[in-house]
Amino acid sequence: MAFLDRPAEDPSELYDREAEVRQLRFSALNRAVTLVVGFRRVGKTSLIKAATKDMTRIYIDARRFEGMNYITIRDFLNELAKSLSQLLPLSRRLIDFLSRVRGLSIMGFTIEFSESTRDVSIPSIFDALNDWASSEGKHLVMIIDEVQELSKMRGFNLLPIFAYAYDNLRNLSFIFAGSKIGMLYNYLRLNDPNSPLYGRYMELIELKPFTREQSLDFLRRGFSKAGITISEDIINKAVDELDGIVGWLSLFGLTYISNPGPGALDKAVGVASGIVEEEFCNFVRAMGSRRYVLIINALKHGATWSEVKRYLELREGRPISDSEVTKLLRKLVDNGFVMKVNNEYVIVDPILRRISDRVKCRD
Ligand SMILES: Nc1ncnc2c1ncn2[C@@H]1O[C@H](COP(=O)(O)OP(=O)(O)OP(=O)(O)O)[C@@H](O)[C@H]1O
Ligand SMILES: [Mg+2]
Repeated sequence: MAFLDRPAEDPSELYDREAEVRQLRFSALNRAVTLVVGFRRVGKTSLIKAATKDMTRIYIDARRFEGMNYITIRDFLNELAKSLSQLLPLSRRLIDFLSRVRGLSIMGFTIEFSESTRDVSIPSIFDALNDWASSEGKHLVMIIDEVQELSKMRGFNLLPIFAYAYDNLRNLSFIFAGSKIGMLYNYLRLNDPNSPLYGRYMELIELKPFTREQSLDFLRRGFSKAGITISEDIINKAVDELDGIVGWLSLFGLTYISNPGPGALDKAVGVASGIVEEEFCNFVRAMGSRRYVLIINALKHGATWSEVKRYLELREGRPISDSEVTKLLRKLVDNGFVMKVNNEYVIVDPILRRISDRVKCRD
């Protein structure tokens, strides 16, 4: 196992995660929908790509829509066309099945959808994929990474189509993954009797950060593989700073390998700080309220709901309603920046926690 700078593609590239790979492989072939949830950089995409490597699959990365305020069905169709096109070289017969779908045309190995999205029937595309898979004795897995971003779609609702596929298309299954776990559940509305997906069983895989022992072992193995000797002291310091977040541990590993020395950890933490600050400030800008910044400032060591309220009122010099405090905290939780542990709200990411009192998000 070596440190990687991008998602793993093969199970042999993964440290640990054997149980999750087994569960996901079973579920992808035997359940209609599997949810893979976990905070940022815990290794969701790597798990999914590696575990489904030998399966017939379509991978749609909805993270592309993260910076957008809203998306249309056209944006989704463009992504679908791209990932479907990659499947075409697999089978001449797939081209035959798909070319019968209204509003879809195929040139060489490239799929295009009709200019007018009203001419495109997504259920017919799913039907064609299912019929093809069934006729070939295959199972097709459709992966939608960061699926909660589809909640920004205006003028079109994909949920009834997912529900249709769930109920009728036995050779098609879905893996929905997301790091904004609250938003993912809000989007799928699994507990809402009015939701098209209400009451349908979904296999859940919750990806957790590595334990301290695993993190230390991960670093030792990565450095050993690279033929680099590193002191236990530095490895321990790295895990103090980076917790069990495999994305950060990998970043540190790669930084150290390219330039071994005591400065490597600071350098990696510096890069990571820039990344998380930008992610958080993008969220603040999208939400349009600086109160999120104040709350993150207050949460360095964790705080209760009342402490957050008191801090906000102190900083703004005026009363703030209970419902506003609750709403702000809920948004931070739904977007994966904060989690509630017992009675306290704490910042999820060790790097954001580290810089939380300095985050300003000035334009
Ligand atoms: N089990 C693992 N063993 C070794 N490296 C891993 C493992 N899981 C992830 N990585 C590495 O950690 C980094 C982050 O992984 P990945 O992108 O899969 O996480 P993610 O949860 O999808 O992150 P994000 O929330 O940013 O989408 C990548 O460089 C990847 O190669
Ligand atoms: Mg990912």
